[in-house]
Amino acid sequence: MALLEVRGVSKWYRSGKLSFPALRAVDLAVEQGEFIALAGPSGSGKTTLLNLIGCLDVPTEGEIVFDQVAVASLKPQQLVELRREKIGFIFQSFNLIPVLTAFENVEFPLLLRGLPARRRRELVAQALCEVGLWELAGRRAAELSGGEQQRVAIARALVGRPKLVLADEPTASLDSRTGESILELMWDLNRQHGLSFIFSTHDPRIMRYATRLIRLQDGRVVEDERRGAGGKAPRRLLGERALEEKTGHFLV
Ligand SMILES: Nc1ncnc2c1ncn2[C@@H]1O[C@H](COP(=O)(O)OP(=O)(O)OP(=O)(O)O)[C@@H](O)[C@H]1O
Ligand SMILES: [Mg+2]
Repeated sequence: MALLEVRGVSKWYRSGKLSFPALRAVDLAVEQGEFIALAGPSGSGKTTLLNLIGCLDVPTEGEIVFDQVAVASLKPQQLVELRREKIGFIFQSFNLIPVLTAFENVEFPLLLRGLPARRRRELVAQALCEVGLWELAGRRAAELSGGEQQRVAIARALVGRPKLVLADEPTASLDSRTGESILELMWDLNRQHGLSFIFSTHDPRIMRYATRLIRLQDGRVVEDERRGAGGKAPRRLLGERALEEKTGHFLV
């Protein structure tokens, strides 16, 4: 069963009296555990498609089915819960709250879910360890480098244990080496946890990590290729024992 189905989705934007199709009849099925790069020239519809999949916007035509549920059938509160519990977001500009610490930024979505403090601490510690930033947990986001901020954003995206992470040009604000290390981190998380990713990019070097490449042009899918991943073999992420030693917490 597909994790996500995009069925005949079109999106028209209106500007004054003119309407313009940003996406035209897109069909996609995404399975759990895929690592998908979304490529295509500027204006081809990558951000539009990610926003529709992430339920941040609604299609003009067609439907999106997430985890067997037609998104359009959900009430607003159910849609908020779907986004909060099943989807993680990573943005080009990190979108952290600068005055909050790394820890507090990662904790934020768990506060919205109303999880108790002890459980929040366990989950945040685990997520920050997984992205290699536990040592900087107390540092304000504004005082972190771009690469570190993007790692915090990844920890924030995965702390709630989503099924799918959407990343809109996650490396575009980073130098190429840092960008590649961010992709390697996403790749490791994908391999270790089966966490599905869809990331948009203009960078051919990071496209080669993908196990599937979807190319858009003028709002249409013009290429959809499954392939063996070209990325490096994943590194082992910290095991639970190591996490416990690092954070002093038993993680369940
Ligand atoms: N809110 C909006 N209102 C009107 N037109 C929009 C809006 N958002 C996007 N568009 C238009 O829709 C088309 C697709 O835009 P989109 O942002 O999805 O492209 P993209 O592939 O993400 O481009 P880039 O690589 O530059 O980020 C573009 O022509 C854009 O100008
Ligand atoms: Mg875009």
